[in-house]
Amino acid sequence: MNATDLALAKQFGESFFWGVATSAYQIEGGAADGGRGPSIWDTFTHTPGKILDSSTGDVACDHYHRYVEDVSHIADLQVSAYRFSISWSRVQPLGYGAWNEEGFDFYSRLLDELAKKNILAHITLYHWDLPQGLQEQGGWLNRDTAHHFAAYAKEVARRFGDRAASIATHNEPWCTANLGYGNGQFAPGVVDTVAALQVSHHLLLSHGLAMSAMRDQHVSAKLGIVLNQWTAEPATNSAADIAEAQWEYARSVQWFMDPIFKGSYPQIALDRMDMSRFQVEADDMAIIHQPLDFLGVNYYFRAYVSTENPPRKPEAKLGLTDMGWEIYPQGLRDLLIGIHKEYAAHGLPEIYITENGVAFADKVEDSRVHDQNRINFVRAHLNAVAEAKTAGVNIQGYFYWSLMDNFEWNSGYLRRFGLYYVDYLTQQRIPKDSALWYRDWIRVCG
Ligand code: NOJ
Repeated sequence: MNATDLALAKQFGESFFWGVATSAYQIEGGAADGGRGPSIWDTFTHTPGKILDSSTGDVACDHYHRYVEDVSHIADLQVSAYRFSISWSRVQPLGYGAWNEEGFDFYSRLLDELAKKNILAHITLYHWDLPQGLQEQGGWLNRDTAHHFAAYAKEVARRFGDRAASIATHNEPWCTANLGYGNGQFAPGVVDTVAALQVSHHLLLSHGLAMSAMRDQHVSAKLGIVLNQWTAEPATNSAADIAEAQWEYARSVQWFMDPIFKGSYPQIALDRMDMSRFQVEADDMAIIHQPLDFLGVNYYFRAYVSTENPPRKPEAKLGLTDMGWEIYPQGLRDLLIGIHKEYAAHGLPEIYITENGVAFADKVEDSRVHDQNRINFVRAHLNAVAEAKTAGVNIQGYFYWSLMDNFEWNSGYLRRFGLYYVDYLTQQRIPKDSALWYRDWIRVCG
């Protein structure tokens, strides 16, 4: 900890919480164990050509068998919060019909382990792994999936709603819609941007139905949603770049925020999109537009919008990550202040930074990983969070993505986001320098 760190740490009061995040398909493995049904990511990863290193999540970090050890690694970081997702097909193999007690038992044991270490659980219900059984019926293009999701949410809330600090319905529905159905990079690999619009509506509808279903359980967990967000900045002051940046922000951030907080889709997006196959039923917007207890914000980079050909690229003064993403911490501050300004009057609840992190080409040297670049990244983003707090944004916690290296979707195991390095041959977890820094940081924050 240097003097700058100590001064920065003071800006986060003692009530601010620190955590790490993961998701089921990315770490669990045990794909066929304990009665788990297949999900669309099992199908997708077993389809040749979809994943950069041709890998799958069959084993991943083997967390399903190593969760006790992993919880001790989480505890070693001194965090008070752990965000993870439930694999829907582990607890309901088909996505409808019978529950799988063995699946629920795994999460119950994980919750016990976390409780023993005084770590609060933040559950995500849907981190992209739809049960294949529902995909066979049309997946998120089928409106019924929203109702199946609400039934699943209700069951999780009934069982775990008083054992978790929060439950989020969806993680990054923008990705589910646009990468799953728009450009086909993610499961189920559909390429149809008009269908992606309908999927995004069904995701929002499922969020609303799930919120009501969980509220009826009167649980102590706070209920909300996790959205990936970015600022959209015009490359130049030209009218065309400015208009395009506004449009980019509308179709990504406002497309999800407006229905939830204002009860309507942003007009600018409706005007420009192909709505020919867009179906919204009478009560849908009212179902989507319900109070949240928290909003989760995932931030990785900004959108840099240029209408020139070839498009202008950002200067990227702080460099690029191993994903090729620009490192741009002030985007996080601007984003938070922006959504506060626009939605505070519309019931914007407390905010958790549910994901922020970075992939670098980490190397093990003498059993250590010297990732000063990751420490710099986190420090710069925490500085941005502190600035947003000072500007009046109600931010209550921060989760680093991710606890450990894991299956990075279509990039396979080639991108390492973890605070712990994972040696996939031995499943050994090695704390990187950033893990030790984060632990010290949390101690200093008190
Ligand atoms: C967001 C996703 O929620 C997570 O699953 C992914 O690994 C990170 N971004 C990094 O790309």
